[in-house]
Amino acid sequence: MNLTPHGPAGLAEIEQISQRAELALEKIRGTLLSPDAVKKAPVWNASQLGHFVGMDRAKVSYHAKKGQVPEGTLPEGSSRKIWSTAELQQWTRKFRSENLRPSDQPAVTVAVANFKGGVSKTTTAAHLAQGLSLRGHKVLLVDVDPQASLTTLCGLLPGVEIDEEHTLSPLFSGEQSDASYAVRPTYWPDLDLIPAMTRLYAAEFKLPARQKDDPSFEFWRALDLGLDPLRDVYDVIVIDSSPSLSYMTINALMAADGLVIPVQASNLDFASLSQFWSLYLDIARSLSDLRGDEKRFEFVDIVLSRVKPKNATAGAAVRSWIRDVYAGRVLSTEVPESETVTNAGLGFGTIYDLPKSQVDADTYARAFDAYEAFVDEVESEIVGVWNNWRAA
Ligand SMILES: Nc1ncnc2c1ncn2[C@@H]1O[C@H](COP(=O)(O)OP(=O)(O)OP(=O)(O)O)[C@@H](O)[C@H]1O
Ligand SMILES: [Mg+2]
Repeated sequence: MNLTPHGPAGLAEIEQISQRAELALEKIRGTLLSPDAVKKAPVWNASQLGHFVGMDRAKVSYHAKKGQVPEGTLPEGSSRKIWSTAELQQWTRKFRSENLRPSDQPAVTVAVANFKGGVSKTTTAAHLAQGLSLRGHKVLLVDVDPQASLTTLCGLLPGVEIDEEHTLSPLFSGEQSDASYAVRPTYWPDLDLIPAMTRLYAAEFKLPARQKDDPSFEFWRALDLGLDPLRDVYDVIVIDSSPSLSYMTINALMAADGLVIPVQASNLDFASLSQFWSLYLDIARSLSDLRGDEKRFEFVDIVLSRVKPKNATAGAAVRSWIRDVYAGRVLSTEVPESETVTNAGLGFGTIYDLPKSQVDADTYARAFDAYEAFVDEVESEIVGVWNNWRAA
């Protein structure tokens, strides 16, 4: 073993490391997404299409012939039809219309949050957004984390393709008041993105500075107000936040109608989640004193994430505490720790991006079914919110 000390590192060396890392990342992305380094949305076969519209293959084939929905295409040399993601969305819009946003209702905004790092917030946000878009909803993803993992998952390179002015930074600094300027389409149809990059972090200084200059400025409402013009354009807005109680995370929470909180079944995560609530309460109470009204979430869903196989006894105990403490707020779906998800992540993608044929069928199905059940549960919350708003 080499026990030689590695020596000090000054700024010049760290700059070199940073440049090498950026270059390596560009190369990795170029290789993974070659030949043209642009991500493409997947195509779907008849049974996958049938899954999303609740039909067997015979019924899919019947409707494909009727001509009201895209009939699919036959790839060269194959006898099995495929549909593009955009075509699949036309099917789900037609056959799942009862779940779609009523025309007189705004988008439901969902923030994925937890102060704990690495619990699967970004992965959860990306799967939720893609799963909802495959169900026929028009979705906007908002990356409020300067780490910009969500932006990377959407096939963009922060710092290369995305500069500070493309992020929410101008909104938080007050140069813009409507977040529409930052919206861009992604490779995935009906899934748009407000991207992030490292320098979005400047907002952590700009927001308090603005409040100091102008005591009437409500720092916690910048994103909420900025998203208002977009709430009639999208059906669902999904916000990914950073693992800290930052000014931007408070903005994400205050802009949200519903919360999705991924949590891992470990003692440390359980303890950290308890702190999430007490810190949130401190802030929300002081803000409601200032605002004069109380922030209410239409739903708060805890989702057990990266759950290790059931025989891991330590995990089983924590899972049952979580279910006791957060009774009624824990989704019945548990998302397993899955090599398929890790591998999809290594390719900067999700389970929906992954060509099924490249993965062992059982392993793929376990992860795919879990995310699908999770998206179904959150979709039913969203549909419930529209119903409540209509009835109000
Ligand atoms: N169900 C899963 N199975 C296996 N790996 C997963 C799963 N969910 C997430 N991961 C992996 O765990 C790591 C952390 O996930 P992710 O980036 O989504 O967490 P996060 O909460 O957003 O992190 P951060 O707090 O840094 O923003 C990633 O490498 C991701 O690919
Ligand atoms: Mg993240």
